Amino acid sequence: MTLRAVVKGVGHFLPARVVPNSEFEHFIDTSDEWIRSRSGIERRHFAAEGETTSDLAASAARDALNDAGLVAADIDAIILATSTADLTFPSAATMVQAKLGMTRGFAFDVQAVCAGFVYALTTANALILSGQAQRVLVIGAETFSRLMNWQDRTTCVLFGDGAGALVLQAETGDGTNADRGILSADLHSDGRFKDLLYVDGGVSTGTTGHLHMQGKEVFRHAVEKLAETAHAALDKIGLTGQDVDWIVPHQANIRIIEATAKRMQVPMDHVVVTVQDHGNTSAASIPLALSVGKDRGQIHQGDLIVTEAIGGGLAWGSVVLRW
Ligand code: UT7
Repeated sequence: MTLRAVVKGVGHFLPARVVPNSEFEHFIDTSDEWIRSRSGIERRHFAAEGETTSDLAASAARDALNDAGLVAADIDAIILATSTADLTFPSAATMVQAKLGMTRGFAFDVQAVCAGFVYALTTANALILSGQAQRVLVIGAETFSRLMNWQDRTTCVLFGDGAGALVLQAETGDGTNADRGILSADLHSDGRFKDLLYVDGGVSTGTTGHLHMQGKEVFRHAVEKLAETAHAALDKIGLTGQDVDWIVPHQANIRIIEATAKRMQVPMDHVVVTVQDHGNTSAASIPLALSVGKDRGQIHQGDLIVTEAIGGGLAWGSVVLRW
C-alpha cells in the first residue's frame, strides 16, 4: 500500500472582462497579427477594479470543491501559488480561507512565479505523503494586469488574470505507475537568471513595480529546460513521452508549447492549449488548463498527465500525475 495525493476535483474562474488583441492597437504600436503569430495569444481576461487575486482564487476553489463534492470544512490545508497576493502580508491563501468560511487547518502562499503551481503541487504532495494533511486545496491565481507597464509593448500584450484550483486527497494505491495521483516531480531554480524576468517593486522600493522581461532569453531557456525537466520527472518512474496522454503546459507562448511537445515526441493533439484564450496567467495557467481540458472532454480519469512550467527566478519544474 502506497499513499498517493489524488485529484478529487478541479475548477477555475476567469474575470468577466475579455480583452482582445485589437484593444492594444489603440495605445501601443502593435497588431493583432504580431501578437497572434509571435505568442499564439488572441484574448485574455483582466480583473475589474477591486477584484483581487484572493477573490479569483476563492471562486476557483469553490468550483473545485463543488466538482469534488466537498465543502471547505473538509479541507485541511490551502496552498495558493501566486506572485500577485492582494497585500504584502498576510498571505492571499489565508484570505481565501476566510472567504471560504474555513476556520480550521492552515493556509499559505507559494511564490515561484510562473512555476508556482508546479511547486505548490509538489508541496501539497509532500504534506499528504507525510501525513500532515489528508485533503489539500491547491490553487494558482494571479492578477498580472496590475504589474504591467502599459507603454511596454514587449510585455503588456502577453499576460492575463485568472485562477484554477485542484482538490487533492490522500488515497492508497499499490505503488505502481497505474495508481491515480501524483507519481513524480522535478523542481529547479537558478537565481543567477534574476534579471531575465522580474518586477522592479517590493518592500525595498516602496512600490508595487512593473514587470520586465528579456523575452528572447527566457524563450531560449524555456525551450531547453521544459522538455528536460519533463523528461527527468518521467525518467524517475521509468516512463517516457510515449506514455503521456496529455501534456498540460504552462501557457506562455504557443511556440514554446509546440517546441517542448516536439522534444518530448508528444503530438500536439495530446497537448492542452488555452494560451489563445487566457494569455499568460503565470501560476494560474496550469490549473486553468487542467480545468478547461476536463470541461472540453479532453482529460479523463486514468490519463497520464505531465505539467511543466518556467518563469521568474528562473524557477522551473514538472509534475507527472495520473488523473
Ligand atoms: O511565463 C514566463 C515565461 N515567459 C515566457 O515564456 C515568454 C518567453 N518569450 C516569448 O514568448 C517571446 O520571446 C516574445 C513573445 C516575448 C517575443 O517574441 P520574439 O519572437 O522573441 O520577438 P522579439 O522579442 O525578438 O521581437 C521581434 C520584434 C522586435 O522588433 P525589432 O527589434 O526586430 O525591430 C520587437 O521590438 O518585434 C518587436 N515587438 C513587437 N512588435 C509589435 C516586440 N513586442 C511587440 C509587439 N507588437 N507587442
